[in-house]
Amino acid sequence: MPSSRMKRKWKAKWIGRKDILIDWRGKVLPAPFFRKVFEYREKIKDAKVYICGIGYYELYINGKKVSDNVLNPVVSCYDKRVRYVVHDVKNYIIKGKNVIGVILGNGLYNSNTPEVWHFDKATWRDYPKLLFELEINGKVTVFSDKSWKVKNGPIIFDGLRNGEFYDGRMELNGWLNFDFDDSNWENVNVVPPPGGILEEQLMPPCKVMETLHPVKKWALPNGDIVFDFGQNFAGWVRIVCSGEKGREVIIKYAERIKEDGDISQEKISCCILGGEFQTDKYILKGDKEETWEPRFTYHGFRYVKIKKDINIELKKVEGRVVYTSFEKIGNFVSSNEILNKLQHCTEWSYKSNFVGIPTDCPHREKNGWTGDAHLACETGLYNFNSSKAYQTWIDNFIDVQRPSGQIPGIVPTSGWGYNWGNGPAWDSAFLLIPWYIYLYTGDKTAIEKNYEGMKKYVDYLTYMADNNIIHFGLGDWLSVDLKTAPSISLISTSYYYVDCILLSKFAEIVGKKRDKIKYKKLAEKIKYSFNKTFYKGDGIYENGGQTALGCALYQGLVENYEKEKVVLKLVESIKLNNFKVNFGFLGAKFVPNALSENGYVDIAYKLITQTEYPGWGYWVKNGATTLWETWDGRASLNHIALGDISAWMYKYLGGILPDPEKPGFKHIIIKPNPVCDLKWVICEHICKFGKILSKWERSEEKFVLEVEIPKNTTATIILPDLTTRNVKDGFYKFICQFKNQQK
Ligand code: BGC
Repeated sequence: MPSSRMKRKWKAKWIGRKDILIDWRGKVLPAPFFRKVFEYREKIKDAKVYICGIGYYELYINGKKVSDNVLNPVVSCYDKRVRYVVHDVKNYIIKGKNVIGVILGNGLYNSNTPEVWHFDKATWRDYPKLLFELEINGKVTVFSDKSWKVKNGPIIFDGLRNGEFYDGRMELNGWLNFDFDDSNWENVNVVPPPGGILEEQLMPPCKVMETLHPVKKWALPNGDIVFDFGQNFAGWVRIVCSGEKGREVIIKYAERIKEDGDISQEKISCCILGGEFQTDKYILKGDKEETWEPRFTYHGFRYVKIKKDINIELKKVEGRVVYTSFEKIGNFVSSNEILNKLQHCTEWSYKSNFVGIPTDCPHREKNGWTGDAHLACETGLYNFNSSKAYQTWIDNFIDVQRPSGQIPGIVPTSGWGYNWGNGPAWDSAFLLIPWYIYLYTGDKTAIEKNYEGMKKYVDYLTYMADNNIIHFGLGDWLSVDLKTAPSISLISTSYYYVDCILLSKFAEIVGKKRDKIKYKKLAEKIKYSFNKTFYKGDGIYENGGQTALGCALYQGLVENYEKEKVVLKLVESIKLNNFKVNFGFLGAKFVPNALSENGYVDIAYKLITQTEYPGWGYWVKNGATTLWETWDGRASLNHIALGDISAWMYKYLGGILPDPEKPGFKHIIIKPNPVCDLKWVICEHICKFGKILSKWERSEEKFVLEVEIPKNTTATIILPDLTTRNVKDGFYKFICQFKNQQK
């Protein structure tokens, strides 16, 4: 991807339909098609397009779609920051006459959909607009100005949170030929820019990453057909059909089916207050065979229901899997099928929840919930090369942060989420995600870029604190049993502490010595107040629930001399609960990690793999193909917030751990744990130096480990018998005596 980090000087102007200037009423209008013909007479050595079309754009040159990107650019707070994309178009431009075509979608820029977060009332909202420059041989040759033409086309409706309606009869046949007669097209207007700074998008774009075929289909009594893709995912379907002109196909997307075989959208449609939910419509143009898929929306689903006229022949229905096109850089398989299925579910929930930005779920909300994002971030960085995408998203935090330092629960936001849905446990994504990026890739850009904002955030928490205790925010969201969930104060204060520790580390990285000491000291005070307020003695924090204990341990708040007691209480409470989980979003990260860091990987393993309600294994037993939002499956079936378990498998079963002192796996720690009935693991992660492999197998008395350590790195290998080896790059095999000690 070409990059131009310097601020670009634009010759182009923002253009749009005339409605923008004379008639803003937020009308629902078809997607605009833009056109520009130009002639180029010289040899083409190099050609690049710089384009920003918001909400989304599709670019064509001489009839060919430029790149296989979809849903570009990534959503942002458009009045603060807009992303432009650079395309290499050398192979698209010809000597002679050329035609450029651009279609714009509404996306989150012009959201028509009334919903509970009010994106339809966003102050940035306006009709779609376009900024375009074509640079040939280093010179801006064509750019958006009033000479362009525009017309409404066949996309008669597109709403990110509703769906897309396409009327094939309205296609603008030939519009991508240079000699097309566009005399009845409107001239565009030069329009006000969206307002935000223009920055190049330097993350991998969204793409159709895979095409799935239905595994089953059935007809309903009224003739509608339901297709099952066998997998919950984000994207849409592509249909191939034929039939009479003007006939309609209606596609509805869902992740559940009712007992009578019909689809059910009830549990995911509650936040959308107007228009259709997860619905696409296609009106046939009457060709022999028509292939169609939407462009400017996406859905979360496993099933689709297709309603069509009897005389339409539906020849094919394919599932188009869409997400940010990062590479897969991790792999985990083991002898335990429950774990393997959970790994599968996590990967799919992660992909479904990264369509441009990290989201909570791909259907009901599609929101950049900050808490969900940081909870799943380590899982993301082990499995996918997603650090650039996270960095792009984190930039938005600066845009949404109030001068007071406050951060909303969803990013981007139209203004919703400052007074509910946020708080330290969610907002700390602002510090945690840059930290994880640093830890797993060694890249400190997000830390350097956002340091002042992070500091402002921590100072805001200090302002809100009462004797170092924070009393607001979300707690252990969707906890199994509210009676045993910890107080919001315990949770929020623990994040306040972690934020101070991180800020102090970041201060060192950016060379702010005074801040380093200041926040370290503040952290110590918070720790003292935390223990004074919440520690009841005897290994018990607050009500002694799994999350309270896990939180105190994992967040680093337990005094060393009390640690063993707290760990034992946690182990005891899990055993007493028959290895069933008793926590929500936050506990799901704290508890397995707290146990494993303190020598109880086996207890965490049992907790994660048992198949009774409530627990992860229960989902697998019930046929989950993605992770659920709640333990009982009452809400969304494709949420990533409980998805840290994959990172846990890498860390504690494969045993591939980064070393915070030498981040980015410059130094690697390999510490596999052959616990309980686990017989073998193959775990690999491709860091920036190359592949790290930890592959082990054990019998009753022998443990065999094979490792691969990439060039320019070193590693410390800790075997189950606790012997330690220090190695540098290469392949190694270690064998040690092994006795399975069940605790
Ligand atoms: C979202 C969550 C989110 C939560 C916070 C929900 O509606 O789906 O994943 O973190 O709200 O309040």
